[in-house]
Amino acid sequence: MKAIILAAGMGTRLRPLTHTRPKPTIRVAGRPIIHYAVENIVAAGIREIGVVVSPATRDDVQASLNGYAGVDIEYILQEKPQGLAHALSTARDWLADSPFVMYLGDNLFENGIVPFVEKFNADNPQALVALAAVKDPRQFGVAVVQDGRIVRLVEKPQDPPSNLAVAGIYVFTDAIHEVVAGLEPSGRGEYEITDAIQGLIGRGARVEGLTVEGWWKDTGKAEDLLDANRLLLSGIEPQVAGQVLDSRLVGRVVVEDGAVVRESTIIGPALIAAGSLVENAFVGPFTAIGPKAEVRDSEVEYSIVADRAVIKDVATRLQECVIGVGARVESRRGLPRAHRLVLGDESRVEIG
Ligand code: G1P
Repeated sequence: MKAIILAAGMGTRLRPLTHTRPKPTIRVAGRPIIHYAVENIVAAGIREIGVVVSPATRDDVQASLNGYAGVDIEYILQEKPQGLAHALSTARDWLADSPFVMYLGDNLFENGIVPFVEKFNADNPQALVALAAVKDPRQFGVAVVQDGRIVRLVEKPQDPPSNLAVAGIYVFTDAIHEVVAGLEPSGRGEYEITDAIQGLIGRGARVEGLTVEGWWKDTGKAEDLLDANRLLLSGIEPQVAGQVLDSRLVGRVVVEDGAVVRESTIIGPALIAAGSLVENAFVGPFTAIGPKAEVRDSEVEYSIVADRAVIKDVATRLQECVIGVGARVESRRGLPRAHRLVLGDESRVEIG
């Protein structure tokens, strides 16, 4: 079996973070989202992985996966963003006649993909789709299931026929390629994977659903990133490899090699990444401080602070923040007492 990870999307709902980097390369609990996908695929015994990238995401995705040991990664270029089924079609030659997992590169799963691959191998359907019961299915593909078989699939329906959302894992035989080749674009101008699967159903193929065990996150919005960060940090094993001086660490705290924590309090679960500095600061639960970031004379909790970001002298505790790579939040001493902001397009600031 092979696997493709789709990492060509623009992540428009996550702007401004995705103005400068693709969503699968954003760090959650210290690691780029796409690393969890690779890890889950490898854990299912799959060694051949194709990553579908676009001209806009190729370099960052490749840089993010460079040095990922023990896997053979093929990069497949999707020239234009024309939908998930179109992304799949760009990988057709590489996939050849192999059955394969299609994994959406911005989705996170607590328990990986082994149950999906096992069920596919045991039942031999033409397609197996991961499903999750959600409160508001309108922003997802939605499935109607009868006796374990999916009998109908609709993309982002206004009036959902069930509460079963399509989660971002699909397992296919090569039968999907012929249906994809005959697809017409949807109302929003994309080649939809849900239409392709509906096409399989229409031809009498067996399409099964399997409910995701444990949590599943589609990291569409900043709130989702923070929640995924919380869920992943909850499982970390405490470990101190960096320097901790005159500080208090409580609960599950990881201080990576080369990080310095000085005169600070850290309440876990929290991750202080390699090369970062936390000084005279409070880092509260569910916070990940990225590589080479700095938190000085400030307090931060339930937040993601990305690589090389700086938080300095901020009087009010920062909470529920996503601070992008190299971004700075600092107080300004002296007069005038004013906020001075340099914000990229579509940035969000809530001042308390
Ligand atoms: C895509 C699929 C949708 C699926 C979702 C899962 O939507 O089209 O069927 O439920 O991923 O994350 P997107 O997030 O690309 O809008």
